[in-house]
Amino acid sequence: MTKVSITVNGTAQAADLDPRTLLVDFLRDHLRLTGTHVGCDTSQCGACTVHLDGRAVKACTLLAAQVDGKAVTTIEGIAKDGVLHPMQAAFREHHGLQCGFCTPGMVMTAIAMAKDSAGEPLTEAKIREELEGNLCRCTGYQNIVRAIAAGAAAMKAG
Ligand code: FES
Ligand code: FES
Repeated sequence: MTKVSITVNGTAQAADLDPRTLLVDFLRDHLRLTGTHVGCDTSQCGACTVHLDGRAVKACTLLAAQVDGKAVTTIEGIAKDGVLHPMQAAFREHHGLQCGFCTPGMVMTAIAMAKDSAGEPLTEAKIREELEGNLCRCTGYQNIVRAIAAGAAAMKAG
């Protein structure tokens, strides 16, 4: 067993874990933060995307022990005081989902994408390129791309 201490959505979480525990399993099984999904076993789908010290990462590709001492944000941690994050609101407004399985990962990737591109326009081509690591099995991507553009603009506007 190995001790890990990770700040998750602003709260310090300590646990004694099997050293092989994946970050996504720590979040889902130990903390019951089940908004972070598992959609594949090949690190391709992006349903497990969370933020690690502000960067989008696939939580199925990291061991919990690798992020000891770091800060993780999950989809449960981005709304504030009951108000949706602008990117969540944009997905709802632009119908950027159907079943919703991929949506938490899409939203977390989109927020990181918008922050990274703060200085340059987030074009449709750029959004599609940066979405390469997130798969949706049920929508066309058109509304997801629209939602991300609108969410990024809302984030920029503050
Ligand atoms: S569950 Fe992590 S990429 Fe699919
Ligand atoms: S909305 Fe169903 S997988 Fe994307």
